[in-house]
Amino acid sequence: MSPPHKLHIKSYGCQMNVYDAQRMVDTLAGEGFVETASIDDADLVILNTCHIREKASEKVYSELGRLRVIKDEAARNGRTLYIAVAGCVAQAEGQEIIRRAPVVDVVVGPQSYHHLPQLLTQAKRHGRALETEFPVEDKFGFLPPPKPDAIRARGISSFVTVQEGCDKFCTFCVVPYTRGAEVSRPVAKIVDDVLRLADHGVREITLIGQNVNAYHGEGSDGRVWSLGDLLRRLADIPGIARLRYSTSHPRDVDETLIAAHRDLPALMPFVHLPVQSGSDRILAVMNRKHTADDYCRVIDRFRSARQDIAFSSDFIVGFPGETEEDFQATLALVMQIGYAGAYSFKYSPRPGTPAADMQETVSAAEMDERLVRLQELIDSQQSAFNQAAIGNTIDVLFERAARNPGQIVGRTAYLQPAHVTASPDIIGQVLPVKIESLERYSLLGQLAPASAAPAVPPASSQMPLSQMIDSAQTRMGA
Ligand code: 5AD
Ligand code: SF4
Repeated sequence: MSPPHKLHIKSYGCQMNVYDAQRMVDTLAGEGFVETASIDDADLVILNTCHIREKASEKVYSELGRLRVIKDEAARNGRTLYIAVAGCVAQAEGQEIIRRAPVVDVVVGPQSYHHLPQLLTQAKRHGRALETEFPVEDKFGFLPPPKPDAIRARGISSFVTVQEGCDKFCTFCVVPYTRGAEVSRPVAKIVDDVLRLADHGVREITLIGQNVNAYHGEGSDGRVWSLGDLLRRLADIPGIARLRYSTSHPRDVDETLIAAHRDLPALMPFVHLPVQSGSDRILAVMNRKHTADDYCRVIDRFRSARQDIAFSSDFIVGFPGETEEDFQATLALVMQIGYAGAYSFKYSPRPGTPAADMQETVSAAEMDERLVRLQELIDSQQSAFNQAAIGNTIDVLFERAARNPGQIVGRTAYLQPAHVTASPDIIGQVLPVKIESLERYSLLGQLAPASAAPAVPPASSQMPLSQMIDSAQTRMGA
């Protein structure tokens, strides 16, 4: 390869993969790689894969089939195109990928991205390279920080990984196997990252982890800090207007997190708290370690700390043994909570997980039918939440120019996209917007006088506790 090398990354799945893709770009920038949006002029293509649900690995093999054609074409033109498979499919099926797909030069699991340069060199010298171990050293210590221009190009909202892996072992889930045991990064490292991001114009930080509220990092005082402690520290960083975190487990909601929601205006009142099912019987077989009632009590604790808080969740329909009665319990729970939006999935057996061996499968037709019923209910709650914003004046953090000329788009506290006609100067600012209408999932409005919106809407102007989020991304973990 002769400089400048071009790198194309295709990411599937959760926010952690989006973040990891950026870390891979930062790592390879040190080797003279620049990112390209097109596969055709790339010297290296990385497929950053997801293994959480069905068909993910089949998608990878069909994508590899397409890449083989492009690689052959490049070879005919005297160019070498290197192909790497990263992410959770690489972790779970590394050897199988090497066996089935000769087109692949490098297979790298999520814990080894800092070794990518060496793996590429190895592939160039010896043909192919595979690394899916969980190395003893912490990859975060080796991943280079993003360069200032990369931070600016990525906009005003940024993910920061604070923990990785999961020790919960829900019986349907591959995460504990592909991402490994729960590991938290030290507070000082996270603070450094956020200071650097803030310095380059980032205004919103989403702390990410497969089970983010299990966070227990080494604090600057030598104590173990919880997620609530960490959020409190980050809220002090000048320039950081908004903090979020994802994805949480109901069992790990401690008092410091509740207190953070009570005390920190920067901590957005929107929590993704997956429950998966409303049936205690199914929750037990899923090994969720909580009942539907435990979950409701956790929601109540959040609500008493911050009245304008709203929730989203993940649901699985058709888990082995799920009866109509179990499913009714899920619908009842959704009715009781009133979600701002939620993701629902048909159960898919993941090889190597305990649920994959359970025999009492639910038929495909029943799963389809339950999914439709659940999604209809969630959609109705989501639309009601969005409709309720009309007429209110709410804070929006402006992110970028919209596709419609002259419009700027930002997000509300609840991640609803909101459009106004304004100058691009407002990008990066949190400004009050009088919401006038709703178009599909987007709110439309006008900038309101600065004094009109308090930082936290008063209880009287609250949106109902259900709403949408338009992110098409797969949610991770917990
Ligand atoms: N089948 C269906 N959905 C799953 N999820 C995780 N594993 C499976 C599976 N085997 C869903 C859960 C989780 C979300 C990220 O993906 O709802 O919260
Ligand atoms: Fe862990 Fe969440 Fe997967 Fe359960 S569903 S094992 S909590 S990542």
